Amino acid sequence: MAATAASACIKTEVIAAEEGLKTAAQNKGLIYGCAVGGPLLENDPAFADAVIRDAGMLVHEYEMKRKYTQPRPRGYDFSKADRVMEFAKRHSMKTRGHPLVWHAANPEWLIEALGERRPRIEKERLLTEYIGIVGRRYSGRLHSWDVVNEAVNHEEWRGDGMRATSPWYKVFGESYIELAFHAAKEADPNAILFLNDFGVESTVRWNEQRRTAILKLLDRLKAKNVPVEGFGIQGHLYAYNDRFEEDVFANFLRQLEGYGLKLMITELDVRDRGGPPSPAQRDADIAGLTRRFLDVALESRAMLGVLTWGLSDRYSWVSAEPENKWPDGKPARILPLDENLAKKPMWSAIKTAFEQAPAR
Ligand code: G3I
Repeated sequence: MAATAASACIKTEVIAAEEGLKTAAQNKGLIYGCAVGGPLLENDPAFADAVIRDAGMLVHEYEMKRKYTQPRPRGYDFSKADRVMEFAKRHSMKTRGHPLVWHAANPEWLIEALGERRPRIEKERLLTEYIGIVGRRYSGRLHSWDVVNEAVNHEEWRGDGMRATSPWYKVFGESYIELAFHAAKEADPNAILFLNDFGVESTVRWNEQRRTAILKLLDRLKAKNVPVEGFGIQGHLYAYNDRFEEDVFANFLRQLEGYGLKLMITELDVRDRGGPPSPAQRDADIAGLTRRFLDVALESRAMLGVLTWGLSDRYSWVSAEPENKWPDGKPARILPLDENLAKKPMWSAIKTAFEQAPAR
């Protein structure tokens, strides 16, 4: 057993010593990281080695969501979230919190409580007390928080593009956002406070609608001095059936910079759905789009770094859905490492994008 442990340790040391994506990023004053689930770090040593090599920052894929941190009204459980925090600390990685407030992944008791007839102040406490408890618990330990995740929704065809079907919006209207940011600032004044959203990267009409809604929301929040300090661009891209144009995305980044916001690409992955049968061709196409996207993103001096939503196709949220697997049963090829943890052209595209990026 000792020999096995020793060889595993040597293996970790060897892989961890390889220059990974985090080094390429750090050399330019930037961050590269990825979303992880705690059990994977404990149950798959080879995957953990790759994370140690590549990631300078970790974000919880799901354990920091309220469904896991507060499964019962009086029952907080940070044990799952803390496993990721401890791994990150052990390997000198930064961490970011995701999310404090989201329309999804809430415990049933909370949705019921928000729907009950009770004084508004009691419902405000359901929002602000949670943020206070979680924010104070991790205060000073997180690089940033996604304070509010996915506040807009183009599918509700509202003039303001807001996600009015959110359980928070149903109770407070848009004011839940300012309540959340002020509570987060009080609880953890050191973390950079982000508004995080998706569907802002390409030229398709529904992305344009979302960009417009977000910019108008930022106008309203900034007019009320709401402490929004960063905007997280999730970066769930589509290599096929979509259109990315550098100047459209660059213009949006310039508009965000105009609010004095820090920027991050928070959940990068590139869907291969609709692509050719050849994995090699899909990998090449995805690497090409990754490079084009990151060249624009990293040109912005407000950009702090890039996180992918996972590191390996072995574990991706997309392939967790059986319909997203390929006919041969293989997983979707959307992340930097393939299901065998081998580096893909996307890995090299990310590394090169950091190497070519202007230094901070
Ligand atoms: O851990 C349990 C397992 O014990 C149980 O057997 C299994 C079946 O119910 O569920 C497992 O939990 C799942 C968890 O992922 C871990 O796999 C939850 O059901 C499932 O809802 C959860 O999905 C996550 C989803 O957010 C909702 O929280 C995905 O992993 C995660 O990738 C996804 O991430 C979101 C971002 O937070 C926001 N942006 C979009 C992104 C992708 O949807």
